[in-house]
Amino acid sequence: MASSSLSVVLLLCLASAVSAQLSSTYYDKSCPSALSKIQAGVAAAVASDRRMAASLLRLHFHDCFVQGCDASVLLNETSVGGNERGAFGNVGSLRGFAVIEQIKKDVEAVCKKPYSNNGPVVSCADILAVAARDSVVALGGPSWEVKLGRRDSTTASVAQANQDLPPPFLDVAGLNASFAGKGFSLTEMVALSGAHTIGMAQCQNFRGRLYNEPNINTTYATKLKLNCPTSGGNTNLAPLDDDTATPPNPDLFNNDFFINLQSEKGLLHSDQVLYNATAPAGATEGIVNGFASSQAAFFSAFASAMVKMANLSPLTGSQGQVRTVCSIPN
Ligand code: HEM
Ligand SMILES: *[C@@H]1O[C@H](CO)[C@@H](O)[C@H](O)[C@H]1NC(C)=O
Ligand SMILES: *[C@@H]1O[C@H](CO)[C@@H](O)[C@H](O)[C@H]1NC(C)=O
Ligand SMILES: *[C@@H]1O[C@H](CO)[C@@H](O)[C@H](O)[C@H]1NC(C)=O
Ligand SMILES: *[C@@H]1O[C@H](CO)[C@@H](O)[C@H](O)[C@H]1NC(C)=O
Repeated sequence: MASSSLSVVLLLCLASAVSAQLSSTYYDKSCPSALSKIQAGVAAAVASDRRMAASLLRLHFHDCFVQGCDASVLLNETSVGGNERGAFGNVGSLRGFAVIEQIKKDVEAVCKKPYSNNGPVVSCADILAVAARDSVVALGGPSWEVKLGRRDSTTASVAQANQDLPPPFLDVAGLNASFAGKGFSLTEMVALSGAHTIGMAQCQNFRGRLYNEPNINTTYATKLKLNCPTSGGNTNLAPLDDDTATPPNPDLFNNDFFINLQSEKGLLHSDQVLYNATAPAGATEGIVNGFASSQAAFFSAFASAMVKMANLSPLTGSQGQVRTVCSIPN
C-alpha cells in the first residue's frame, strides 16, 4: 500500500516535470494585473469581431506546434531563421497579430517597478497562451488554468512550420501521426479538432471536398457552393462549424462540430475523416460520438489537451528572452 502510493506520487512528479518550471503565480509580484489586462484585451477584440476569438486560439496552436510555445509564430523578419508567418498554413490566413501587439503594450504598461525597470516583463508566448484560453471562455467554452513563465524565442523556422502544421488534406493516419509527434493521443487529437467549432475557413481549403467528395451532406454542400464556386473566390469564407443552435449562433464554442460530423457536415476534409457515417466503427467514430453526445466530455477533454499543448517545450529560466515588441526580437 505504502509503496504503491509512493509510486503514484513519483508518477505524478514525472508527469508534471515538463512544466515544472512554469507556474500559475509567475507574474504575481512583477505584473499582478497581467491576466486581467489580457482578458480585457481579448474581450474588447472579440466584442468588435467575434471571429477574433477563433483567430487567437489558432495563433496559439500554430505557435506551440512549431518549436514549442515560444511566440516564434509572431516574428516577422527572415533574419531570425525564417518567417513562420509565410508558411503554407499561415500565409494569408493567420489573424490577430495586431490584437496581440496591443495587449502586449497594455500589459507592460501595468507591470510593477522595479521589475519593469529592466525591460519587458510578460512574454509574448504567455500572452498567446492566456489569450487562447480567454478566447474560448469568451465564446462560452471551457476554462483551464494556464501556467506561466514561458520565454520568447529569438528564432523562427518556416521549414519546421511547413513540416509540423497539419494540412487539411490529411486522413486520420496523417492527423494522428502529426499529433502523436507532439505527444498527443488519438482522443486528444479529436478533442483539439473540436476547436473548429468556431472560426472560418477559405474556399480554397474546402473546395476539393465540396466538389469531389461524396460524403458531404447535400443540403449543406448546396449552401456552401453558392459562395465557393469551382473556380475563383478562393478566399471566400465559410464557418468551420455549421452551427445548429437556435437562433443561429455560429460563433458559440460548443459540441455542435461533432454532431455535424455525424451528418456529414464537416467543412474540411481533415474534419470529416474523423467520422465515416457509412461505417461508424473506425478508430475515431466512437470518440466523435462521445463528444457529440456529451458536451461536458468534450469540454473536459479539450481543456486538458489545451493545457498539454500550452506546455509544449517552453523556453524557461534564462532561455530566450522577453520581447519588447512581439513581431521582432529585442
Ligand atoms: C487537426 C488538424 C488541423 C487541421 C488540418 C487544421 C486546419 C485548418 C484550416 C485549413 C483552417 C482554415 C484556414 C483558412 O482557410 O484560412 C483552420 C482554421 C482554424 N483552426 Fe484548425 N486545423 C487543425 C487543428 C486545429 C487545432 C488543434 C486548433 C486549436 C486548438 C485549431 C483551431 C482553428 C481555428 C480556431 C480556426 C479558425 C481561425 C479563424 O477563423 O481565424 N485547428 N484550421
Ligand atoms: C510583416 O510586417 C510587415 C509590416 O507590418 C507587413 O507588411 C508584412 O506583410 C508582414 N509579413 C508577413 C509575412 O506577415
Ligand atoms: C495513432 O498513432 C499511434 C502512435 O504512433 C499508433 O499507435 C496508433 O495505432 C495510431 N492510430 C491510428 C488510428 O492511426
Ligand atoms: C443533411 O442536412 C440536413 C439539414 O441540416 C438534415 O436535415 C439532414 O438530416 C442531413 N442529412 C443527412 C443524411 O445527415
Ligand atoms: C466509409 O466506409 C465505407 C465502408 O467501409 C467505405 O466504403 C467508404 O469508402 C468510407 N468512406 C470514406 C469517405 O472513407
